[in-house]
Amino acid sequence: MPCSVVLGSQWGDEGKGKIVDMYAPSADIVMRYQGGHNAGHTVLADGHSYILHLVPSGIIHKGVANLIGNGVVVDPKALLKEIEGLENRGISFKDRFFISDRAHLIFPYHVLIDRLKEDRAGSAKIGTTGLGIGPAYTDKANRSGLRVGDLLDRAALETVVRANVVQYNILAENLYNSETIDAQGIIDEYYEYGKRLRPFIADTVYLANAALKGGKKLLLEGAQGAMLDLDFGTYPFVTSSNGSSGGAAVGSGVSPMHFSKIIGVAKAYCTRVGSGAFPTELKGELGDALRAAGKEFGATTGRARRCGYIDLAALKYAVTVNGITHIALTKLDVLSGIDEIKVCTAYRIDGEESARFPAAVSTLEKAEPVYKSFKGWTQPLTGIARFDDLPKQARDYLAFIKEFLDVEYCVISLGSDRNQSIVLSEAFNDN
Ligand code: IMP
Repeated sequence: MPCSVVLGSQWGDEGKGKIVDMYAPSADIVMRYQGGHNAGHTVLADGHSYILHLVPSGIIHKGVANLIGNGVVVDPKALLKEIEGLENRGISFKDRFFISDRAHLIFPYHVLIDRLKEDRAGSAKIGTTGLGIGPAYTDKANRSGLRVGDLLDRAALETVVRANVVQYNILAENLYNSETIDAQGIIDEYYEYGKRLRPFIADTVYLANAALKGGKKLLLEGAQGAMLDLDFGTYPFVTSSNGSSGGAAVGSGVSPMHFSKIIGVAKAYCTRVGSGAFPTELKGELGDALRAAGKEFGATTGRARRCGYIDLAALKYAVTVNGITHIALTKLDVLSGIDEIKVCTAYRIDGEESARFPAAVSTLEKAEPVYKSFKGWTQPLTGIARFDDLPKQARDYLAFIKEFLDVEYCVISLGSDRNQSIVLSEAFNDN
């Protein structure tokens, strides 16, 4: 049964939107499996730019169905706004877009606590998107959350929202000295959202599995990246869900037994938004040049991204944890014009060299990258359609990464448009 996973293999913002959009025509269904509207997936298609937050990146293609899986946290207000914006641009959602009734909801009290907690944390803050993602997943794990299906049940909505508001208001007032929240307003507002979302709410577990059984092709789309994964990332500087391939099974209801290709999207360099260790970060001129050339500003928050050399020690760890079979390498074009390009192959920690990615952020903060240098190239790469037409220096750089990671490439991306890519293999094994 053909099911492939596309996930981020660094700290997010690798260009997953472009890769999913490119592969979507060969799929029948694209399904998001975790995260929320903290994600910002940019798709540039036929000269039109779309920034998707919750809606899967297959939506631009008419014949493809799009599902939001149970592992996603949904802010219904943000979702309705996104749907409306896309409908206004001529994209139809009718009968081809469904949201899992099991997906958890984000409420205004989650947003409030996310922001209050960050403000209080001072220099120890995570640098969250402030959209309530962490607190919503906390309620899910705490078994005090509400799910998309509950939007249709006013009594359930009323009981749980009232109970949660009491607790969150105690926190807001007493711990954070902040204004409180009104439960009735939330209940009325969310019940209205439920009425509007009703046509889209479905049991996506059955939809996805029945489609697979019927021979349809399913692409599972991750958000954020391996290094932001709650379990495997740079904890606590992570998001609150599992963007890893394990999360793809849990967040979709599709058994990992069905996964064939696991595509890790990686930038040809590295970026990170928010706080946390980043061993290969370039703080000087080169970092600024990468940010400018790569337009490294967040699609959701507009924040400037921290930039650095590619970190193969981290990427190798991501390949291992996720079982990545193929790498879609993005933004290789951004490296044109850099004289010497470095890749980090290991860390030196307390005088000892290690290729392992450490669990503790305090250890990673001490890690000095061990670099291998490559000669750069000057020519622009955009427009190149064949691997063999890339400059020799770029091919050497790519060959080293591939060998180090022991993976295949499926795409080398040389620009933000769909067509600015060298496609080496398709999304599904049987193509
Ligand atoms: P949260 O997901 O808003 O809780 O933020 C937790 C961390 O994940 C912060 O460092 C964010 O900057 C980061 N983060 C969340 N979503 C994304 C994303 O889509 N791309 C890159 N970083 C993200």
